Amino acid sequence: MISAERIPNNVTLSENKRLQRALEHWQPKYLEWWRDTGPQGFQDHHYVYLRTAVSVDAQGWVHYDYVKLPEYRWGIFLAEPVRDRTIGFGDFLGAPVWQEVPGDFRSPLRRLVVTQGDTEPASVEQQRRLGHSCPSLYDLRNLFQVNVEEGRHLWAMVYLLHSYFGRDGRDEAEELLERHSGDADKPRILEAFNEPIDTWLDFFMFAMFTDRDGKSQLLSLSESAFDPLSRTTRFMLTEEAHHMFVGESGVARILDRTCQLLTSGQAGFSEDVRRLGGIDLPTIQKFLNFWFSLSLDLHGGEISSNAAIYFANGLKGRQYEQKHPDHKCLHGTYPVDVVVDGSLETRNVPLRNAMNEIQRDWYTADCVAGIDRWNRILATYGIPERLRTPDRKFNRGIGIYAGFHFDPDGHMIECDEWDRRRDEWLPSPEDKAYVKSLMAAPIDEPSQFANYIAPPPKGINRKPVDFEYVRTEL
Ligand SMILES: [Fe+2]
Ligand SMILES: [Fe+2]
Repeated sequence: MISAERIPNNVTLSENKRLQRALEHWQPKYLEWWRDTGPQGFQDHHYVYLRTAVSVDAQGWVHYDYVKLPEYRWGIFLAEPVRDRTIGFGDFLGAPVWQEVPGDFRSPLRRLVVTQGDTEPASVEQQRRLGHSCPSLYDLRNLFQVNVEEGRHLWAMVYLLHSYFGRDGRDEAEELLERHSGDADKPRILEAFNEPIDTWLDFFMFAMFTDRDGKSQLLSLSESAFDPLSRTTRFMLTEEAHHMFVGESGVARILDRTCQLLTSGQAGFSEDVRRLGGIDLPTIQKFLNFWFSLSLDLHGGEISSNAAIYFANGLKGRQYEQKHPDHKCLHGTYPVDVVVDGSLETRNVPLRNAMNEIQRDWYTADCVAGIDRWNRILATYGIPERLRTPDRKFNRGIGIYAGFHFDPDGHMIECDEWDRRRDEWLPSPEDKAYVKSLMAAPIDEPSQFANYIAPPPKGINRKPVDFEYVRTEL
């Protein structure tokens, strides 16, 4: 079923020998990177029940089999072209989309592709040690599914760099394998992708909030006037949905277990959950605060001339651009709270300059909808507490709120109050140590799940929950 080509693809690679050779030259470097910095300890002796994309139609999507991770077939797939597609926003609204990169926009487009591309291998690097502490084989398999797909997303961006950006693009493709998450000399470009992911609670929160930033960015890029970028990102979005499923359902199952413990009659108070080996709600809220605020940063500065240029030139739109009534955004303003002399003041920013903030609104609403689904679990158990997003100004490292302190309700606070109360809002060293202590050893019996997480309601691809999703023999 999988094509015999060295690089599976739907871009007629065999008809472009030069490009094919260039990518086949990059392929061994990619595999070396995967072996060195991909999932640690699961490269040679484990078979993983994975889904492999073999084409973009619905049939090509249901190919499941056991594979050794380094033998996964990473391919290049673009969504089918939309006939007579025209530019949906900005100064060139209504003009035909571009099949080549216009000279004027070469450098900003390359920057967009590289920045997106850099996040893909970064997350694999961040998650490389998690296999040793998995809560079940089901979860282990989901982790690896996410990892191989992030690897494929890197392929998607490298394909664009090689095909459309000439020598510079080829150099950038090399550098995507040379930067490493958390590396002191050559770190990844965006800060959230240099944070270590040491626990499965971090991983699930990352997949919920940081992969959702990925969804947000891919939606914006899929609106691009540069059609190959649009088609590439549209196909990536289908994979991204699974990553958010892994994150959202992972936290949901932890919550489910926490609720079971809270209503078991053995735990009167939230603190008692820890005594029973679960993860208490305040700790879950702190991890949520951390990953949500870090992921907000990924949408960039609130007032941004770069964002205005991207929009004006049709390079990057808003999520679901067609749902907006005005695609030019030449008039009108967006209110942004700015810090002036130690207090907040609302400033009306021209719409195009507020594009990052407008996209952040969409992202935040999408997160809130997911948190509402988590809260339904608490409600079902009759537990009055609720999870929530902290204010968007809380714990920011990028943009106009960076360098100031805000509590989770958005009130500006002094530095010493922040220092005193930080551990109430963000995971403290003790919280991290506790969560880590629950994950000291992997759970690798097919029917078993770690005590802090409920089993999923169903397995993958209609397989039972206790299916041996990862095995050492075939
Ligand atoms: Fe991705
Ligand atoms: Fe992802």
